[in-house]
Amino acid sequence: MRIDILTILPELLESPFNHSIIKRAIDNKLIDIVVHNIRDYSTNKQRQVDDYAFGGGAGMVMTIEPIHRIIEKLKQERKYDEIVFLTPDGVRFNQQIANRFSTLQNIIILCGHYKGVDQRVRDHLITCEISIGDYVLTGGELAAAIITDCIVRLVPGAISDETSALSDSFQDYLLAPPVYTRPADYNGWTVPEILLSGNHTDIEDWRYEKALERTKKLRPGLLDGKID
Ligand code: ADE
Repeated sequence: MRIDILTILPELLESPFNHSIIKRAIDNKLIDIVVHNIRDYSTNKQRQVDDYAFGGGAGMVMTIEPIHRIIEKLKQERKYDEIVFLTPDGVRFNQQIANRFSTLQNIIILCGHYKGVDQRVRDHLITCEISIGDYVLTGGELAAAIITDCIVRLVPGAISDETSALSDSFQDYLLAPPVYTRPADYNGWTVPEILLSGNHTDIEDWRYEKALERTKKLRPGLLDGKID
């Protein structure tokens, strides 16, 4: 799988992909993440990638030209399954979308900035618009890091314990049950007895009950299949 990220701030994406599970997935060639600086595709002397909004108003707008140029170049090199634009007014990202994206071959992620991007980019160049939540970031880079992280850990082989990605919160519309590790007694704060019993059927039943309890309390909508 390959993810191409288009940004005017590539530096912001250096660290998130250089550690732990994502780095290992890249090193093991399970995933290729390529960050492109949109400025490199500007024909402008000042490498300008934004301009004033037609009709006036505050804030600069990202221009279509360098974005079109880079997307066309990438599309000539390979076929893309999705070209995603990150924006607070997009479809809310969730585990189901992450699952679907993790099955794709090639994805482009375009990070928005400033007041927005020329509407013609949205109308003609991209295939879907995604938001990571109802709040406004300074740009799409952190959202791109979050989405990429979610996708990569679902790629087979990225996580050493294959089953653990599947038992995550949200995979089955249930929040995850509590987990404990040693010591069994810390400061008098003890681990539930059942987890020390060695009875795997009882432990699974207990985990399911706890997951249900947590979901009812914190996210009751999930039980009706509502991910919001
Ligand atoms: N860019 C700015 N805010 C964003 C958000 N909430 N989700 C995705 N991209 C964004």
